[in-house]
Amino acid sequence: MSLVPTYIEALRPYEAGRSIESVRRQYNLTRIAKLASNENPLGPSPRAIEALQRSLTDLNFYPTGGLQLREVLAREFDLKLENVIAGSGSEGIISNIIRTFLGDEDEVLTTEAAFIGFQVLARSRGVKYRTVPYRDWHYDLVALSQAITPQTKIVYLANPNNPTGTIFTRHQFDEFYRHVPERVLIILDEAYFEYAKDNPKYPDSMHYRYDNVITLRTFSKIYGLAGVRIGYGFAHEELIRNLLKVKLPFEPSTPAQAAGIAALSDKEFLHRSLELNARGLHDLTEAFAACGAKVVPSDANFVMLELASEEEADRIFEQMLSQGVIVRPLKGFGLPHCIRVSTGTDEDNQLCVEAFRRSYATSIGASHTR
Ligand SMILES: Cc1ncc(COP(=O)(O)O)c(C=O)c1O
Repeated sequence: MSLVPTYIEALRPYEAGRSIESVRRQYNLTRIAKLASNENPLGPSPRAIEALQRSLTDLNFYPTGGLQLREVLAREFDLKLENVIAGSGSEGIISNIIRTFLGDEDEVLTTEAAFIGFQVLARSRGVKYRTVPYRDWHYDLVALSQAITPQTKIVYLANPNNPTGTIFTRHQFDEFYRHVPERVLIILDEAYFEYAKDNPKYPDSMHYRYDNVITLRTFSKIYGLAGVRIGYGFAHEELIRNLLKVKLPFEPSTPAQAAGIAALSDKEFLHRSLELNARGLHDLTEAFAACGAKVVPSDANFVMLELASEEEADRIFEQMLSQGVIVRPLKGFGLPHCIRVSTGTDEDNQLCVEAFRRSYATSIGASHTR
């Protein structure tokens, strides 16, 4: 259709993971483990639920553009208000970054099979989108720094990375940063920051602030608030000032802001979520490896499995689904032979391991008899 630019025509719409209800209905199951979207299996932070409920009586008023949350974050992280932005999830802020900083001739650079949300947003801007292959499922920061051209405007790095779960270290980032010109904006997407922060090699980007780095974080993961859409970012005031011009003035919503502020203070929930995740990562990684599968060691709340082929990945996905376990096939990311499994409750993880054992054994059997 001539009304649609070719780069929009070429996009594939974002495919959400399967819902619990649709799987329940399709297979007539009672117990479902949804391990497809890196959500918190404990539910939302209880403090956030209370704050959400309290915020409802103010819904007749327009939101404040995230001002109160920005104030709280500035205090918590010892920054100026001018260095903080809040938005409708970190994807909302990525969308604003793309609209604010990219011109038609600019290029975006990142790794192959980067976080799908970023891929879609960047490609929808119609600019050149360039990638560098992974190195052992890690960002190849050396190759990325060498791939920067005079047209490169944004380099996108997720740490930990989705879908691989891997991190780059502080040392690797420092080396990379030395080779990046100041005219290049680095997006450091730390959606899984809380899960990785205790790894001594992890470069918590709050420990150093560079003028051309924007850090993004979210309440969607460890705080269990993916459904309300609330995230935040830190950057030089000049970057934030311009982002605020472009951002929809009433984003984030009043309930989302209230939930974010309350969740930030819910240290007990954070602690419980971290403990459950550490146990889940350990149990899933061990169990998948014991089956003989290739598991990528993870610093996030999910693990990636590399399978022999796209057919094997599809077969295992379908078979696990039929046993009530929803995992994430990674074809949409550009890795058709891989699947990603989020950590769940202990019960979810057990169901998942049992379903994987059965599916993997059948699948290996199937590929040997062909
Ligand atoms: C690397 C990464 N960044 C951002 C997001 C999106 O976060 P939000 O829900 O805050 O938009 C995700 C969600 O899966 C993610 O994996």
